[in-house]
Amino acid sequence: MNIFKSSADAPKRAVAEAALAHVQRGAVIGVGTGSTANFFIDMLGDLRNQIAGAVASSEATAQRLKTVGIEVLDLNSVNELPVYVDGADEINPDLHLIKGGGGALTREKVVAAVARQFVCIADESKCVDILGRFPLPVEVIPMARAHVARELVRLGGAPDLRIGFTTDNGNSILDVHGLEILNPIEMEREINQIAGVVTVGLFARRPADVALIGGPDGVRRVTARP
Ligand code: A5P
Repeated sequence: MNIFKSSADAPKRAVAEAALAHVQRGAVIGVGTGSTANFFIDMLGDLRNQIAGAVASSEATAQRLKTVGIEVLDLNSVNELPVYVDGADEINPDLHLIKGGGGALTREKVVAAVARQFVCIADESKCVDILGRFPLPVEVIPMARAHVARELVRLGGAPDLRIGFTTDNGNSILDVHGLEILNPIEMEREINQIAGVVTVGLFARRPADVALIGGPDGVRRVTARP
């Protein structure tokens, strides 16, 4: 066993375990993408007989859910999604998020939009005062990427095409460096309006409802500042 890897993973494991308390028995659960979500999926396997199945935010998550014996449902067939559990790349005190480091931002945003409660799980390295140090992922239709890149430069960013990567939806990702996102709700709206943008990885209009943050002293439960 690699002890260095396992100690770095301890906060992720801890928040994944804490998120199990949010799982509603008998209901469908929304499940996100990434290394923290993967710990949650592996633990959720033990509850597979107590849930009605899961909606996945990516093909990778769907595959992992099936591996632990959980039925994966099409979101279109689900009327109610009480809870969605997912990680994040950055989290501010309003629980606005940057997501999409793993490229699953579009499906993540759709599942988050449907869910009644969005539970974000992350280690404390993800907490920031101002979003933007993590490059902001923007999913774009391939024929529009030069146009979208020019518009993002106009907004003050430095977009980089994510080379060799295609999303589950067949699109490209621009990772936008150099943004200091002082007004996440407004920036989300502005980037969403650029022709050719599928999704921006800012989750501000629909932030997380609660964040479970893992650190050396255990798990902190955070709600947005009033
Ligand atoms: C996936 O597209 C992302 O939104 C992830 O939720 C995010 O990158 C967090 O991943 P980790 O848990 O691996 O840090």
